[in-house]
Amino acid sequence: MKRDLVSIDDLSSGEIAALFRTVDEMAARPREWTHLAQGAILASLFYEPSTRTRLSFEAAMHRLGGGVISAADMRSSSAAKGETLADTVRVVGGAYADILALRHPAEGAARVAARYASVPVVNAGDGSHEHPTQTICDLYSLYAEKGRLEGLDVVLSGDLKYSRTVHSLAYALARLRANVVLIPHRGFEMPEYVLRRLRERYGNEPQRLEADDFRSIAGRADAVYFTPQRPHQLSLFTEANRVAVAKLDALYVTRPQQERFTEGEAAPPVRIDREALSGARFKDTFVMHPLPRVNEISYDLDQDPRSLYFKQAARGVPVRMALLAFLLGRLDLGAEAPAPEPTAEAVRGRLGMACPNPTCITNLESHYLEPEYVVVSRSPLTASCTFCEVAVAPVLVGCASTRVFHRHNSGDVRRIKAEHLVLFASEEQARGSGFAAAGRP
Ligand code: NCD
Repeated sequence: MKRDLVSIDDLSSGEIAALFRTVDEMAARPREWTHLAQGAILASLFYEPSTRTRLSFEAAMHRLGGGVISAADMRSSSAAKGETLADTVRVVGGAYADILALRHPAEGAARVAARYASVPVVNAGDGSHEHPTQTICDLYSLYAEKGRLEGLDVVLSGDLKYSRTVHSLAYALARLRANVVLIPHRGFEMPEYVLRRLRERYGNEPQRLEADDFRSIAGRADAVYFTPQRPHQLSLFTEANRVAVAKLDALYVTRPQQERFTEGEAAPPVRIDREALSGARFKDTFVMHPLPRVNEISYDLDQDPRSLYFKQAARGVPVRMALLAFLLGRLDLGAEAPAPEPTAEAVRGRLGMACPNPTCITNLESHYLEPEYVVVSRSPLTASCTFCEVAVAPVLVGCASTRVFHRHNSGDVRRIKAEHLVLFASEEQARGSGFAAAGRP
């Protein structure tokens, strides 16, 4: 079975550890791996701008002895003539290339590509959703500098709403038992679906952080601290539900993702410089950034030994070498793949509501993609989009077999068979689809 890398959770913790060992070797002797991908071709399909990600993927493939075909600007390809993502990846993946690296502005695009392509798909960023290969670069850099990940205190700051890098990174840090501190810009908090996954999948519970501690790096601070619930960490707590962090291991800064802002959204002019990091708490704090930076990090930090961002970018090549070799099946990591997720109830089909996220791939390519949701709870009925993960809260829930609808929090919803569930955003939509209210003809 092919392996795709759509989400950071497509790699098990054992595989990540094994990848790190390979990356060490590849970084130490970068020119000695030209046998690994001989005869294989990587296609870069980039529907959004990129410098480091695309070039490091391509450099990595060359270093492995493979070939590269590159559509650096898919907006100038047949996509501009209206070709769908599904059709593009079906042709390019298989007939032209053995592995695809895809960057796309729509959340969920990589999941769609992975379904349609017969070859492995690597998500090089799908909208504001995830960016798993950047996360491996970030984790590897932290690990290389600190020698461990478990127990580190890592701040994720800035635009946590639209930055896909911090979503994948937060999941991985939580899974690998690091502590995550969220310091978002006002209005750019971590999306609810990310927080839910942190809580439900990794058991990370948020704690409030002493607010005044972080004015220097966030301008203002409604900081949230996520920690795996382990007793010895209670020593970090100053009082119930309030946490003070004595020292920080890393401060991950993000660029305001202006290209995804909706009307009225504007990033605050927060800039981190040596002055902001002069306190004792920041003495050994690595400053990280996926790059490109705009104004968030002052150039006066570039020569500071705590700055890690250029090293992070340089490590993109050996990291992607290891990932490509692994996904092509040319490198055995000797680690277990992730356990399959427990099968949840799914709601599929055109009947009912569309995904509420306007930039979800199911809305942008709706002529062939049907909405698809995973049921989170039956009462009240809540769900999340299979592709972009955004929460879906229907007003009414219908039964496709009886053509009757109920309120989302009605007890009757529990009795509807999963395959008959239909989610409606409004009564008008339910009636327009030929459904009638329960109890009345
Ligand atoms: C990031 C991205 O594209 O999400 N860049 C990268 O891949 N290194 C970060 C950004 O654009 O801000």
